[in-house]
Amino acid sequence: MIRGLIFDLDGVIVDTAKYHFLAWKKLCDQLGFKFDINDNELLKGVSRVRSFEIILDINGQKMSEEKIQKYCTIKNKIYLEYINRLTEDELLPGVKDFMTKARDKGYKTAIGSASKNSLLILERLHIHEMFDAIIDGNKVSNAKPDPEVFVKAAQELGLQNSECIVFEDSVAGIVAAHNGGMKAIGVGNAEVQSYCDYFIKGFSNIDECVLIKKAEGE
Ligand code: BG6
Ligand code: MG
Repeated sequence: MIRGLIFDLDGVIVDTAKYHFLAWKKLCDQLGFKFDINDNELLKGVSRVRSFEIILDINGQKMSEEKIQKYCTIKNKIYLEYINRLTEDELLPGVKDFMTKARDKGYKTAIGSASKNSLLILERLHIHEMFDAIIDGNKVSNAKPDPEVFVKAAQELGLQNSECIVFEDSVAGIVAAHNGGMKAIGVGNAEVQSYCDYFIKGFSNIDECVLIKKAEGE
C-alpha cells in the first residue's frame, strides 16, 4: 500500500530549468563556450559538477577538479540571483492543491532532489512546511539513477521503499526510483513516458488516489 509520495523538485514542483539555463549560458559566454537550449536538456536531473563536465565534453575541453569547482561556484552565484527573486506564482499549476489534498488524506510527503539549493527554493515558494522529509544534494553522495536520494527519503518518512511512489521529470530519476524498488510517475517531460509507470502532464485536476491506483497497475 502506498503511504508516501516523494517529489523531485526541479521540473516537478517548479520550472527552474530556465534559470539553470540562463546561469550556465552566462558562464559559457564568459568562457567562450557553446551552450544552447538543446544542450540544457542534457543537464536535467544531473548534479551541478556533472552538468559542467557535460558542458566541457560538448566543447571538447578538459579542466582540473579545482577549476571545475571554481566555475560551478560562479554558476551557482548567478543561478541564486534568479532563485532569490523566485515567488510562489512560479509553483507549477496544481502542485499546492494536489499536495494539500494528499496530505489531508494521510499521505506523507518528501522531496528527493539533486539540488543543493532545494531548501532555499522551497522557502521561496512557501511550501517547505508541506514536506515531512527533505533529502537534497547536500545529503547524498550518489547521483540519480542511484536510488540513494529516494531511499533516504523513504527512511526519513519511516516507510518501506515499496510504500513510496516517486514523481519525476527526468529519465535518471525514474530509473533511480525503479532501482530503489519504487513505482515512478513521470511528470511533464514527454521523454520519460516510456520509462515511467504512469505519466501526467501536470498536477492540475489530478486525483491522487486514482493516480496512485493507475501507477500501481490497478
Ligand atoms: C537538479 C536539476 O534537480 O539539480 C539539475 O534538474 C541541477 O539541472 C541539479 O544541475 C543540481 O542543482 P543545484 O541547485 O545544486 O546546482
Ligand atoms: Mg527534475
